[in-house]
Amino acid sequence: MDRVLREEARGEALQRAGGLPRIPLDSKELSDLELIAVGAYSPLQGFMNREDYLSVVESMRLAGGILWSLPVTLSAGADVAGGLKPGDEAALVHEDTVYGIIRVTDKYRYDPEAEARQVYGTDDAAHPGVARLYRQGEVYIGGEVWLVRRPPAEFPAYHLDPAQTRAIIRQRGWKQVAGFQTRNPVHRAHEYLQKCALEMVDGLLLHPLVGETKSDDIPAGVRIESYQVLLEKYYPRDRILLSVLPAAMRYAGPREAVFHAIVRKNYGCTHFIVGRDHAGVGNYYGTYDAQEIFDRIPAGELGIVPLKFEHAFYCRSCGGMASSKTCPHDKGEHVVLSGTKVREMLGRGELPPPEFTRPDVAEVLIRGLADRAPGGA
Ligand code: ADX
Repeated sequence: MDRVLREEARGEALQRAGGLPRIPLDSKELSDLELIAVGAYSPLQGFMNREDYLSVVESMRLAGGILWSLPVTLSAGADVAGGLKPGDEAALVHEDTVYGIIRVTDKYRYDPEAEARQVYGTDDAAHPGVARLYRQGEVYIGGEVWLVRRPPAEFPAYHLDPAQTRAIIRQRGWKQVAGFQTRNPVHRAHEYLQKCALEMVDGLLLHPLVGETKSDDIPAGVRIESYQVLLEKYYPRDRILLSVLPAAMRYAGPREAVFHAIVRKNYGCTHFIVGRDHAGVGNYYGTYDAQEIFDRIPAGELGIVPLKFEHAFYCRSCGGMASSKTCPHDKGEHVVLSGTKVREMLGRGELPPPEFTRPDVAEVLIRGLADRAPGGA
């Protein structure tokens, strides 16, 4: 899918947009608009109509039967939606700037609690994805979209569209490429997964998600600096590609793992790494729920191979990274820290154990967090 308008078509659409009714987008919807337009969400061509939405929520398939695990929807208040009817065009606006145009196919009320239960597996408003769902407007507007202006890229050097990553992969001659989703710094466990994968495939797409995340996740800017240090010092440059995914995090666990895999297929990956509690938050999902969901997808339908990894840790007796599949030693020998604990340590300027995070990476994280803290440099 390529729904980015260019040159005359773009100029003409921008002009037309000036006279159209306006639908405000939040930052998640804006990133979804861009990702639909550049083909990251292929085969989607727009925000979901009622039929696709209900089918995806109910059975993880678009109405036509294609596997798709998360709703991609545009919400609006009844006041905005009231002025629109099928066939109308509307301008898609964020902070007073027009980014796209939608041709409305339908508008429909939805049941947020039902969506939460089916998609997130919980209707608890304390879940960050569910909380966002509950804050939305009460109507969904479906229809094809066109992008008339690129949203500002936070990391232009790493902002590659699917067509660009696929071209680089071809150019490098990689036949098999593993995609790695992350919303965190690359700790030793992440590095272990990536390098195990690299033993089996030709290249790795390190593909951090840099759209909206919850406020206590480490900001994307700090993470990018830490990835750069790691790549310079510890990775073979010719076998790794760092590029960002400007999507918002949903924290939908298993369903989001499938979504992340489909999206990475669109970026050119043949394999996708799924570790422990992928895209999870709190205790909403079982440690391996996000792996088991792939077992229920009929073979061949996904089009990308999930590479499943057990919980990895440094084991003092093994003297290296391991998992319960490879390590016979007692838990007391394992260096395991929760994400929350590590963020607290970094926030206080303390280095986590070197077996958990490489000290040169941790230093970048500590400095980055201090610079961005209120009253920081
Ligand atoms: S996520 O929300 O993007 O999944 P994170 O960035 O922590 O969070 O994880 C990136 C990937 O690494 C996910 O596939 C996750 O399951 C995996 N992962 C993270 N930590 C570990 C670990 N200690 N052992 C195994 N897999 C892990």
